[in-house]
Amino acid sequence: MDSAYILGIESSCDETAAAVVRSGEELISNVVASQIATHQPYGGVVPELASREHLRAIVPVVRQALEQAGKNYESISAIAVTQGPGLAGALLVGISYAKALAFALEKPLIAVNHLEGHIHAVLLEERQKGNRELRFPVLALVVSGGHTHLYLAEQRGETWSYENIGHTRDDAAGEAFDKVAKLLGLGYPGGPVIDRLSAHGDPKAVKFATPQLKHPDRKNFSKNSKSSKDGILHQKSPCVAKSSGSAASTENHPRFDFSYSGIKTAVLRYVETNDLAATIESRRRALGQIVKPKLDDYLANADKQTLDLVASFQKAIVGDLVAKTLAAAREYDVATLFVTGGVAANNELRQTFEREATHEGLPVYFPSRPLSTDNAAMIAAAAYPKFAAKDFAEMDFSAEAGLALK
Ligand code: KG4
Ligand code: ZN
Repeated sequence: MDSAYILGIESSCDETAAAVVRSGEELISNVVASQIATHQPYGGVVPELASREHLRAIVPVVRQALEQAGKNYESISAIAVTQGPGLAGALLVGISYAKALAFALEKPLIAVNHLEGHIHAVLLEERQKGNRELRFPVLALVVSGGHTHLYLAEQRGETWSYENIGHTRDDAAGEAFDKVAKLLGLGYPGGPVIDRLSAHGDPKAVKFATPQLKHPDRKNFSKNSKSSKDGILHQKSPCVAKSSGSAASTENHPRFDFSYSGIKTAVLRYVETNDLAATIESRRRALGQIVKPKLDDYLANADKQTLDLVASFQKAIVGDLVAKTLAAAREYDVATLFVTGGVAANNELRQTFEREATHEGLPVYFPSRPLSTDNAAMIAAAAYPKFAAKDFAEMDFSAEAGLALK
């Protein structure tokens, strides 16, 4: 088959992204316009603002991706776009634009699940390195601001299929990072800040209990729907889809579910017990006055107690993610491990996975950091098998905020 140049478009949350990928194996261009500055004053993603920002950015971002790839609209083979999960209004911007382009250019249109995109970011990365040896079964941990999901991934011919064997019962790991950072006056998004600050704290200083899931997963289980005196801590992140993880479980295996709401609440209790509110407020104000705070700015505004707290929090989350994923890998006797999504950019997570998986003789693959967080190259890469199988979207398909991966 001749090379296929797929234009990918991603707009599911707070990044407007476009990329050109050749035949699912070579990244030609990758443009990401982040909305962090827009949402930062609100401490999280504001759906209405996200849609407006996508509308503003989508045309120049696509143009730039084509320009950087040395392509024009006519010379691309197909257009791929994220269908879900994500914010409906945000998804619709990318989908409407992709449909208009496909219609005007008479090119095939491919609808891609955002979570499948994260998994294919790993495949794209490995193919770029020349690694085509992939041993199955593959277990993929997709860990981001919206998801903490474990999938068994299979490939038959061109077609990929996925089985969900675990997901978060409440907060996604990235969501917990974001909420804890907000709680401690460290701004948004929290993951990258906590990642860098943790290296300066003592991870053994504060003990957090390992999340225990005693009861089976109940439909609509959500602490977040309750009104709570803990305010922002129990507000659901808007990019989190409600039903994207609740796929059927295998009958003969236990599930490997996660829960991070308890650790997050334990941080809140620590803040209350140790009377940290005033320090946090002055940190919030000081950092709020700096346009793009650097590590030194954060360090200048973080005392030892805070550094120890974030390091201990990160260690608890990383320890749980790694322990559960490796337990699932043993249970399902998998041959390869993928770790992907925004939180896969975390240094301690990478190091711990590499150390522990290597110890068990299990190869573990991550995307590079730019391909870990949301991007459109992963959407274009995931679209390639569908392009080869002529699995094109009808013009009447729409956004699915809670799209499950199967
Ligand atoms: O995949 P992504 O860009 O968007 C979603 O699909 O949600 O992930 C964003 C999430 C945010 O919660 C952010 O705080 C987290 O990934 N994140 C990190 C790091 N970089 C981004 N979490 C921990 N350590 C990091 N270095
Ligand atoms: Zn994502």
